[in-house]
Amino acid sequence: MKKYDRITPEGTKDLLFQECEAQRKIIETLRTTFEARAYHEVITPGFEFYDVFSSNSMYFPQESMYKLIDNKGRLLAMRPDSTIPIARLTATKLKGHALPIRLYYAQRIYRQQPELRGRSNEIMQMGIELVGLSSYDSDIEILTTGMEALSSCCVDDFRIELGHIGIYKLLMDNLNTTSEEKEKIHSLIASKNYAGLSDVLETFPVSKTTEILNELPKLFGGKEALAKARTLFNGYADELLEMLSYLERIFQGLMERNFDKVMIDFGLVHQAEYYSSLIFRGYISSAGEPVLSGGRYDELFKDFGESLPATGFGINVDQLASGLLKGNEPKQTNASTKQSESNIRIALTKGRLEKSIVDLFEEMEYDCSSLKDKGRKLLLPIPNKNMEVVLAKAADVITYVEHGVCDVGVVGKDTIVESGGTFYEVMDLGFGKCKFALAVPKGSDFYSGYSTKRIATKYPKVASTYFESKGMDVEIIKIEGSVELAPLLSLADGIVDIVETGTTLKENGLEVIEEIRNVSARLIVNVASMKLKKAEIDQLISDIHEKVNK
Ligand code: PRP
Repeated sequence: MKKYDRITPEGTKDLLFQECEAQRKIIETLRTTFEARAYHEVITPGFEFYDVFSSNSMYFPQESMYKLIDNKGRLLAMRPDSTIPIARLTATKLKGHALPIRLYYAQRIYRQQPELRGRSNEIMQMGIELVGLSSYDSDIEILTTGMEALSSCCVDDFRIELGHIGIYKLLMDNLNTTSEEKEKIHSLIASKNYAGLSDVLETFPVSKTTEILNELPKLFGGKEALAKARTLFNGYADELLEMLSYLERIFQGLMERNFDKVMIDFGLVHQAEYYSSLIFRGYISSAGEPVLSGGRYDELFKDFGESLPATGFGINVDQLASGLLKGNEPKQTNASTKQSESNIRIALTKGRLEKSIVDLFEEMEYDCSSLKDKGRKLLLPIPNKNMEVVLAKAADVITYVEHGVCDVGVVGKDTIVESGGTFYEVMDLGFGKCKFALAVPKGSDFYSGYSTKRIATKYPKVASTYFESKGMDVEIIKIEGSVELAPLLSLADGIVDIVETGTTLKENGLEVIEEIRNVSARLIVNVASMKLKKAEIDQLISDIHEKVNK
């Protein structure tokens, strides 16, 4: 039997020497910041009863939790988050304690992330919770502590973005939707998929609600985003305007206290079930994902039989520690540093989409000489735009953008649907159009008989989601290329693949029996770059928009 006695499980790692030192430095610095503000430490167990995380609402998908069974057969979960256990602790051990209660924690959380994406399943997290206050002052206290925490860790280049989940919730309450539509709209807003959002909203009767929802993800930036929101929200429910006024007050309050690294994003809708009003996230330049995340969660205590307002945030200590180590490393040569001399790094899909992208860039007067005569070079400069291009396979474009080593990417919707990932999908570029389809040997009756059908595909996730939606069990076989061969060799009954001209199917005696969805090239942006390099990325998006929509 194979023994796994020399490696650590996926998503975990040993920390050695400088890594431990960097982590300890961050922990001590944050501890000093939190204790100086009268926060007291608590530690909760590494695993809890599963019920703690699945009381009235399911805040974490059950697939993402590590589960154990105790010797009485009860289900336990490794804590996927610290706020919920701290709410449990406060509602029980600290019941009746004088309010407000200021708590901080430094402990690991455990989440099962998608495989092979370079994500950690064990994260060292520190954070604070301020329980028992629902005032403006307590929101300001939490935000300024968060900003002090980031700057005390020697992180100069950080941004905090603010949003108000109540705005999104109120608008959704006023829209007559099914829970599937709700989920779809939520994910389209969160990923700034402007085109997808407007397609979905067009299926609803035109109203002020759909108009505002459509604009929500586009409303981000500095003070001007607040002004635009005021014009847009004008005449809508008073409650919406009150929430906007609150956000304006918070923004103003932070500016007056010289905390100016703040932005607004009305499209910030993370963990909508959990938070109740003000929400925020923090970004640093060395990490492609948020390093700080928090907000007000006035409803959470109800799950534990209490009614207490509360607010707080969590910081990813590992990300700060790795930023610290990167900052201490000697400067490397151009080709391997994160951003080298160029301001924006773009990942482009080679092959099928390559020519259309070069044509588009040339139309935009980008100097594409290095792309047209690239030889074996992989990092290609666009000298007249202070940009750099990386040519990569489609799935790698997503990986590079998700991790923030590339700011922007161009990739087909087929790869986005198959790979998933966290990034903003800001534009449908209108080229690279094709379809996902189910195709079978011409004249064969795919649905006849009782045997489980076999499907060959390069897109197992797309294929399984499609048949799942039909309530049909199929056997899926992953094929890397020329998938049409599988039915010809009698390995499969049909294929799920992209069809562009239909020539490959025709020449191999196959035919489409069902179309699954349309596909085209998309412009994607890393979430941190979108906030930290807003001006340059806005410019790029608007230049591309002008050309593809003319
Ligand atoms: C794609 C797809 C089909 C073909 C469809 O493959 O998987 O095989 O193109 O195009 P058509 O409808 O215009 O004939 P691709 O060319 O990307 O190569 P691969 O199968 O080797 O991955």
